[in-house]
Amino acid sequence: MITSSEYRDRRIRVISDLGEGALILPSNPESTMSNDVDYKYRQHSDLLYLSGYPEPGTTAVIEKSGEEIVFHLFVLPRDPLYETWNGRRYGVEGAKQHFNADFSHINTELNDLLPKILKKHETVFYPQGENADTDEIVNQSIRKARKMTDKTGKGPYRVVNPHPTIHKYRATKSEAEIQLLRKSIRISADAHTRAMKVTKPGISEYQIEAIINYEFRKSGALRPAYETIVAGGINGTILHYTENKNDLEKGELILVDAGAEYANYSADITRTWPVGGKYSKEQKNIYSLVLDVQKRCIEKVRPGENLKDLNDLAVKLITKGLIDLGLLQGDLETLIKEDKHRRFFMHKVGHWLGIDVHDVSDIDRGEKFKPGFCFTIEPGIYIPDEEDVPKTYRGIAVRIEDDILVTETGYEVLSIGVVKEIEDIEAIVGIENLP
Ligand code: GLY
Ligand code: MN
Ligand code: MN
Repeated sequence: MITSSEYRDRRIRVISDLGEGALILPSNPESTMSNDVDYKYRQHSDLLYLSGYPEPGTTAVIEKSGEEIVFHLFVLPRDPLYETWNGRRYGVEGAKQHFNADFSHINTELNDLLPKILKKHETVFYPQGENADTDEIVNQSIRKARKMTDKTGKGPYRVVNPHPTIHKYRATKSEAEIQLLRKSIRISADAHTRAMKVTKPGISEYQIEAIINYEFRKSGALRPAYETIVAGGINGTILHYTENKNDLEKGELILVDAGAEYANYSADITRTWPVGGKYSKEQKNIYSLVLDVQKRCIEKVRPGENLKDLNDLAVKLITKGLIDLGLLQGDLETLIKEDKHRRFFMHKVGHWLGIDVHDVSDIDRGEKFKPGFCFTIEPGIYIPDEEDVPKTYRGIAVRIEDDILVTETGYEVLSIGVVKEIEDIEAIVGIENLP
């Protein structure tokens, strides 16, 4: 659990780093699924990081003037009729009581109050271009605030994107965050194990999806952190295949990429196993190559290394492996220079992980690892069904994805709870029946 004092410390660190001014963070808009039915709501990750406030219609404003830091929350009001139909709200009182707002207001007051807040500041920290409604309010408020301050010459004249600074802090996970990541990843590893156990020829991709998502909810996760990918055979060559509608056949591989969201923290695990319980020779060749690349990338993780160099290593090892298997022809250095691996390995070897499954997008891949950084390592090989590829390899798709925490001296694989060695996988595929 993230305590209210941790949220407060995060706010202090972020606004102190940004400097004098007012930070404005809007919530994500709600999203319609059908007529009056919305998708389950997900708060904006930066707003979650700094406040924990889960409801839509929210704007956080954090002001820094000298030593003084003031935290406002503009929130949806309590509304008995709405709450009878759609669920509880914290409201203005709850925002103060549970989320430590110094001032809380009904969100419709933002129009009137924001110009009064902004006129005290020269810098507005605001992520423009993400939320059209708030963009309009913020721009209007800046105009009004300038008018109010014409005579003194002060007022907001600079707008700065706060994401890079917020992401800098989000990149290093606290002890409490690591506990939540462990839980979310543990739940996900167990779900993969269960899915392996119930896989048999004839079962469908959607039944495996159901098992995975059932295990998530059974263990208290709110939802999958992204649409669960269950791809049999050639469907595995579609990187984000989520139709999950086919039956699985003996002889095929099944690629499952699934991670839970638990208490706002995401897991992201991929395993690839044989539907019939035994890998074919060619499947084994590809699987062993991907596993070897993955392990060699993971072994290099320690403070000071970076994702970009790990990606270069993965590209080199995969290209060499594809030459050895006869899937690429030519000189290793030339093939690497010409990016020939991209026909078979078209994504990067990993990404940051945290509140978002693709976390802290403002942190460069060249950023040196520090203890507390968390990311995935997920090499893959996807062989298209095309004429110039040896027939026995066509349609084979393998990805192996683990979640890694950087420690003081090296790394910890957080997703250790689900097996990935060939013999360990073969030993459990199909040993249970669907419930
Ligand atoms: N689940 C998406 C990814 O692996 O990046
Ligand atoms: Mn991933
Ligand atoms: Mn994934």
